[in-house]
Amino acid sequence: MKFNNEMTLTVKALSQNEAFARSVASAFFAQLNPTVEQLEDFKTAVSEAVTNSVVHAYEKSGGTIELWAGLTDNAIYIKIKDRGVGIDDVSKAMQPFLTTGQERSGMGFTVMQAFTDKLEVESAKGYTCVSMVKYANVEN
Ligand SMILES: Nc1ncnc2c1ncn2[C@@H]1O[C@H](COP(=O)(O)OP(=O)(O)O)[C@@H](O)[C@H]1O
Ligand SMILES: [Mg+2]
Repeated sequence: MKFNNEMTLTVKALSQNEAFARSVASAFFAQLNPTVEQLEDFKTAVSEAVTNSVVHAYEKSGGTIELWAGLTDNAIYIKIKDRGVGIDDVSKAMQPFLTTGQERSGMGFTVMQAFTDKLEVESAKGYTCVSMVKYANVEN
């Protein structure tokens, strides 16, 4: 895939970086002139992915979150990656209401799926990567 523009961002997996990473990603997507709804949906999806890396990936030791995004003429491709504990069974984890957290909704992946045009999750021990595609100004 050839991208017109690309960015990367690496941040510590801290809750105060959830809003930061979401803002950076949405400012980048804004270059495609998406509708307000497309922009808001994208922000929400990015937020869920980054929050998962903050909340679930690392135990006490902490770690980093790597965010990559690329723009085509009408879509943003984004990858949110951590090097944390990983997910044993991805398709199970993606089911609505499935959570290993306490007082969490288990709806993160469901929201990412609903609010983007494509969602892919790759994970193994020591690694989780969430890839999403969101179109701008296209009737779907
Ligand atoms: N980056 C990640 N690293 C490790 N586990 C994860 C990660 N993202 C998601 N998970 C696992 O997938 C489950 C479902 O995630 P999600 O749908 O966002 O629900 P919630 O975050 O509310 O638990 C989580 O409870 C967790 O067990
Ligand atoms: Mg979640």
